[in-house]
Amino acid sequence: MRKVINIGIDLGTSRSVVAADNGVRTFLASVVGYPKDAVSRKLFGRSIVFGEEALKHRMSLDIYRPFENGMLKISKTMDEKSVEYLKAMETAKELLNRLIELVLDEEQIERKDLVLRGVLGAPALASRKNKKSLLDIAKDLLDDVMIVSEPFAVAYGLKLLTNALIVDIGAGTVDLCRMTGTMPADEDQITTTKAGDYVDQVFYELLSKKYKEATFTVNMVRRFKEENSTISKHGDSIFIELPVKGKPAKHDVTEELKTACRAIVPDVVEGIRQLIASFDPEFQTYLKENVILAGGGSQIVGLKKEIEDNMNSTLGYGKVLKVEEPLFAGANGALLLCKDMPEEYWQQVKSKGEGKF
Ligand SMILES: Nc1ncnc2c1ncn2[C@@H]1O[C@H](COP(=O)(O)OP(=O)(O)OP(=O)(O)O)[C@@H](O)[C@H]1O
Ligand SMILES: [Mg+2]
Repeated sequence: MRKVINIGIDLGTSRSVVAADNGVRTFLASVVGYPKDAVSRKLFGRSIVFGEEALKHRMSLDIYRPFENGMLKISKTMDEKSVEYLKAMETAKELLNRLIELVLDEEQIERKDLVLRGVLGAPALASRKNKKSLLDIAKDLLDDVMIVSEPFAVAYGLKLLTNALIVDIGAGTVDLCRMTGTMPADEDQITTTKAGDYVDQVFYELLSKKYKEATFTVNMVRRFKEENSTISKHGDSIFIELPVKGKPAKHDVTEELKTACRAIVPDVVEGIRQLIASFDPEFQTYLKENVILAGGGSQIVGLKKEIEDNMNSTLGYGKVLKVEEPLFAGANGALLLCKDMPEEYWQQVKSKGEGKF
């Protein structure tokens, strides 16, 4: 008997997450860096650097982020021989390979009799070409692969296969998906591009306007947002320390941070409204009762209440819940799916290129 290792993988714009049934659960910033010259190669002692380490040393590295808006950085019209396309494919593959390395221990890497089985979450509305490219990459690294939509993976992990509306708030996209007891179709899903990165951009611009003397980067304000994000009406004033002519000084950013965090809400609520309004009227109430927030952006304090208030005024009612593990929800669900698919399914995938649920 060959030993199977099941792996759930969530490839995100900002971070990629894996969960495997050998107990490993970990993540990596979705960044690949190559040393710029001989000095930096010497510094790192290797020709490729990943994740947080790459971000930390970005001055001495050529940095690539293989995903954009949650998708491989390729467009429908892109020439498959172009440098850009090849680089996106290469860096995505390096990143996926690294994630798999993180799952396996040394003995497992050496073993030839292991079957590596993976379920990959892709953004809800990733194009066919995008999914195919992802599949091509993954097939070289895993023995069996299936790609599913990311919010579906979240729903599967929570065992919410019917009467639920998943809202996965990532860095590049918010993926909304209604679960109706079957595999979600295109009309069950909406993707908007005002997500975490958009909050950072708005926050950065508001601060640039208000504090012209201070110097800072989007990275700095993002880190600050992740520690202080809120749209709650209550709470103390929020101060950020930013250098002015080299000297750190405190700046009040209470309103700017709340305005930035609130900037994603209208599109999220509009997406929820569309998915509910276009659904069978007899079942609309069930969806309204079960809106589930996942993804890093769901951690904004007060977001749940803000969405509920908005739903109350636009839809008459709304009940919103947050998942317990926003960053792992997608990978956990993908892992569960990977384990649950019967052996025949994987055989079908092997012989026909796709299997039937
Ligand atoms: N505590 C927090 N409050 C608000 N936002 C946060 C918090 N922690 C992380 N984020 C934001 O969540 C986003 C990352 O979430 P996640 O890891 O789910 O995204 P992703 O999967 O990489 O992106 P995508 O799904 O768009 O490809 C980033 O924009 C990050 O700044
Ligand atoms: Mg994501």
